[in-house]
Amino acid sequence: MSLAERKLFVERWIRSPLKVASVTPSGPELCRAMAKAAQCGPDRRVVELGPGTGPVTAALCAHGVTPDNLLMIELDPAFADHLAVLHPDATVVRGDATRMHRIVQAHGWPTCDAVVSGLPLIAMPLSVQARIVRGAFSVLAPDGVFVQFTYGPFAPVNPELIRRLRLKPRRHAWIARNLPPASVWTFRRLP
Ligand SMILES: C[S@@+](CC[C@H](N)C(=O)[O-])C[C@H]1O[C@@H](n2cnc3c(N)ncnc32)[C@H](O)[C@@H]1O
Repeated sequence: MSLAERKLFVERWIRSPLKVASVTPSGPELCRAMAKAAQCGPDRRVVELGPGTGPVTAALCAHGVTPDNLLMIELDPAFADHLAVLHPDATVVRGDATRMHRIVQAHGWPTCDAVVSGLPLIAMPLSVQARIVRGAFSVLAPDGVFVQFTYGPFAPVNPELIRRLRLKPRRHAWIARNLPPASVWTFRRLP
């Protein structure tokens, strides 16, 4: 992570503290754990939500996701412009994750294999969280996985929503060396 990227992150956080929701980008161990949880590989289509300056994106690419199989959705225009320069062969949509279904369809993907979220999901109003999680499972293949990190002790999706969507939450990893320490959770449909 370059100094320029750290500076960009802090600038965007000052401008939009609730949307960026962290003063620093995710650390390398957390990003690697996210990529591992997504079971990345060259044939897996991945949608990344809220990539920011792109540390998780870099881990996804390092774990084998090819640019044509990577679709990023980022609300902040400065982050989206930065990502488009860093990953010219991948697709960056400057847009809202609540519109994921429409964005993925417009991209020509009937489904994807993983949705990897760096969004501040638990800080969002429940109605917004529900739209995002429902959106993710509307585009995921039947055996697809939704990956989300959290700094909190509990699963980062509302329990009632987990029940209604019939999801199976699992803590994939706890990253003590991230600042702050974080957990990576996966959510799949129950069989
Ligand atoms: C906590 S930062 C995480 C950034 C990066 N993934 C990381 O781990 O360092 C949250 C990111 O989500 C983006 N974001 C917040 N709300 C969003 C939304 N509704 N749709 C798309 N991106 C959003 C922010 O602009 C920011 O880039």
